Amino acid sequence: MVSIDQAPLGNILGFLALASYIVTLIPTIFRIVFPKTKETGIPQWLLKRRRTIGLIAFFLALGHGFLMVQKRNFDFLDTKTYWIYIQGVSTFIIFTLLSITSNNWSVRKLKKNWKQLHKLTYPAMVILIWHIWDKMSGHWTYLTPISLVATTIITVLFIIRLWIEHQDKQEKNAKKVIQKDLVGQKTR
Ligand code: HEM
Repeated sequence: MVSIDQAPLGNILGFLALASYIVTLIPTIFRIVFPKTKETGIPQWLLKRRRTIGLIAFFLALGHGFLMVQKRNFDFLDTKTYWIYIQGVSTFIIFTLLSITSNNWSVRKLKKNWKQLHKLTYPAMVILIWHIWDKMSGHWTYLTPISLVATTIITVLFIIRLWIEHQDKQEKNAKKVIQKDLVGQKTR
């Protein structure tokens, strides 16, 4: 029989970290995929608070990771441990890098690299689906389906965003070519 477990504090913290992380992705994704949401003012409101929400996600993930390390009696000297928890650990490293560089000083110092570095937030999305699926396999709590559905939805929306941006770029390039042709015809 399929049974759903209660969620202990460690899992609740993981879930809240995931929820806060998804909230940080909403403004940019919604601006492109659902441009009408701009009229509600919600994406702009979230954008202003994105850094704070990102830091909240980091501290919640820290709490989650800490409780999981205790629960599963991690052996930090065994390399196998890192392999078993590769998805959680790599997402946590990404969250750490993003959190320590979420300030104006880092934006100025890293220049173009800052944007590249912060793109790491997107692979984290896919790694998290794998993390939850793998680690919760066979003992889902009531939070597991919500986490999996939410992470999958935001990943699909992100792919749609990439596709829209690609289409826009192609359209712009086509327009440029037509304009160049017209200018060429006039000067001939
Ligand atoms: C140090 C890094 C991490 C480690 C070692 C770790 C470990 C784990 C483990 C062992 C589980 C299974 C819990 C169980 O058996 O009940 C789990 C579940 C989970 N983790 Fe992580 N994790 C890490 C990072 C993260 C991060 C960064 C997030 C989110 C942003 C996250 C979100 C979740 C979620 C949502 C679940 C499923 C909770 C549920 O469905 O009840 N984890 N994690």
